[in-house]
Amino acid sequence: MSLLLNRNIFGKPSNAGNILSKAEANKLLALWVLNPRLQLHMKQVAQLMKSWAAEKELLNEADQWRWEMTGLLHDADWDQWPDQHCKKIIEELENRDIDPEIIHAIASHGPLHFGVQPETKMDKMLYAFDELSGLIHAYSLMRPNNYEGMDLKGVKKRLKEKSFAANVSREDIEDACRLANITIDELILFIIPHQAAVK
Ligand SMILES: [Fe+2]
Repeated sequence: MSLLLNRNIFGKPSNAGNILSKAEANKLLALWVLNPRLQLHMKQVAQLMKSWAAEKELLNEADQWRWEMTGLLHDADWDQWPDQHCKKIIEELENRDIDPEIIHAIASHGPLHFGVQPETKMDKMLYAFDELSGLIHAYSLMRPNNYEGMDLKGVKKRLKEKSFAANVSREDIEDACRLANITIDELILFIIPHQAAVK
């Protein structure tokens, strides 16, 4: 079944600036995502988005939350409605009159699957973090001290091993780094310490 969204416009421009509160976003996450592993993945990506917005883009707290929220909800429909991923969460956010930029970021987090190209920096970073975050987490689970002492070399070795976390698309990671204009090394070195703190 195709996951192509077959459209490029999401939400209404008049909804710019409308975002969910943290309580509303957490409620949606808890209702829709029952699998604790997927919940953790979304919290990890949310933390990475927030940290990048703060440290690299120097955005204010309100904008950091916009980035965080896209991370927190990007896979919200994957657990219960995988055949409607990511149509269902997009429609939900459109029905709630959420800012079109946030919806666009979620719609473009897998351009090779959904057919929507990342445009803004927020779009590109969500795409860049998504798969690599998963691979680094899988690597942490097989290390005796998890994230402690994890280094660039170890992650790159796993990345080269196609059989390791085989569902993580190396193609997506390379494409995302190219689009976001960052090196894979920079991305790995950002993810390790920021993701380690998310429980
Ligand atoms: Fe994801």
